[in-house]
Amino acid sequence: MRWLTCTLLVNTLILITKTGAIAQIDPVHRLLTSISIGTRRPDLVLYTRVPKTGSSSFQRHLDALASKLNYTAFHFSTPPWIYCSSGFTPCRRKDRPFLPYELDRHRKRILAMANGTHAVVDFHFAYLRFVANTAPIHINIVREPISRLISHYNYMRFGSERKSENRRDYIREYGALSIQECIDLYFTCQCVGDCRSEQSSTCTQGRCLDLYSGFNSQMMYFCPVGTAVCADKNASALVEALRMLHEYEAVGITESPQESMRLFEAVLPRYFKGLSELEQKHVRQSSTKAELSKQLLDQLMDLNSLDVQFYEHAVKLLSERLQAAEASPWRQQLQGLMNPQYR
Ligand SMILES: *[C@@H]1O[C@H](CO)[C@@H](O)[C@H](O)[C@H]1NC(C)=O
Ligand SMILES: *[C@@H]1O[C@H](CO)[C@@H](O)[C@H](O)[C@H]1NC(C)=O
Ligand SMILES: *[C@@H]1O[C@H](CO)[C@@H](O)[C@H](O)[C@H]1NC(C)=O
Repeated sequence: MRWLTCTLLVNTLILITKTGAIAQIDPVHRLLTSISIGTRRPDLVLYTRVPKTGSSSFQRHLDALASKLNYTAFHFSTPPWIYCSSGFTPCRRKDRPFLPYELDRHRKRILAMANGTHAVVDFHFAYLRFVANTAPIHINIVREPISRLISHYNYMRFGSERKSENRRDYIREYGALSIQECIDLYFTCQCVGDCRSEQSSTCTQGRCLDLYSGFNSQMMYFCPVGTAVCADKNASALVEALRMLHEYEAVGITESPQESMRLFEAVLPRYFKGLSELEQKHVRQSSTKAELSKQLLDQLMDLNSLDVQFYEHAVKLLSERLQAAEASPWRQQLQGLMNPQYR
């Protein structure tokens, strides 16, 4: 607690007590409380980014801000020290789950990245739980899930930015059908759920599993890795992912860059001051929804209805939080707690 002066802490706690039930929704107040009572570390931000949500431009912004605001930005694709047996995070459900000791090692490595400095660490991974007094600040960005799936589908197989051997491996495993052919096959086979029954997997041979299964689901990135409830993409996992969504200090929306950047700035100025002035680029899209038929889009929506619900909730949460954060009377106090130099 060396970054606190006693006075500041006392003032903060008085403020918090006085206001009691004030908008649970105010993320500034919430973070201030968490740091004051020691359930969040102010020196570490964890960005377990979801693939194909526009995170590479966000990483560039982090680099630009890190030098200005005196922190370190660490970027990894998947965590280099731990991976599922076939390299997917979150693990494909048929892969073995992470073992507790692997997750522990993973947590330790992350925590060590902010040792005496402030740091933002990003990589593709599902929500990782920490014990309360070591928990970093969690942030993320979500994208309209059908656009994301289409973009991911084409990128993994045909993305020219990807190494050709990686594309080849992916095609070997998941095929190179068009999205229309893939979905037609899915319905011809009358797959149920993840299409994993023996009969149906013979039928589809795992083709285009990534259009509807749990391992490529955006919502599943919010469901805590290693927990039983997150072993399958189903209604219980959605409930858990929604609960976790609220545990993130800030979650942006790819389709609303301005609002997202303003939320990051309002809640986490220590890391994001000046973010909304940086140039915002659109997500590179190798293919768009406009090229697909309405019927196909509806089928994709049906197959991914949990993800659609998750996204709609995240959109609503962003606007509620932004409103509360920008009007929050606690911004000064939070800033003081986060960065001793600003006091
Ligand atoms: C943090 O840094 C100190 C001093 O450089 C070192 O002694 C300590 O082992 C480090 N802690 C971790 C977790 O890396
Ligand atoms: C930047 O952060 C480091 C580590 O926290 C600190 O030692 C240094 O004084 C800071 N530099 C400036 C210019 O604030
Ligand atoms: C969802 O899957 C989990 C893990 O397999 C299971 O425990 C849970 O009961 C399922 N929930 C529903 C609503 O099917």
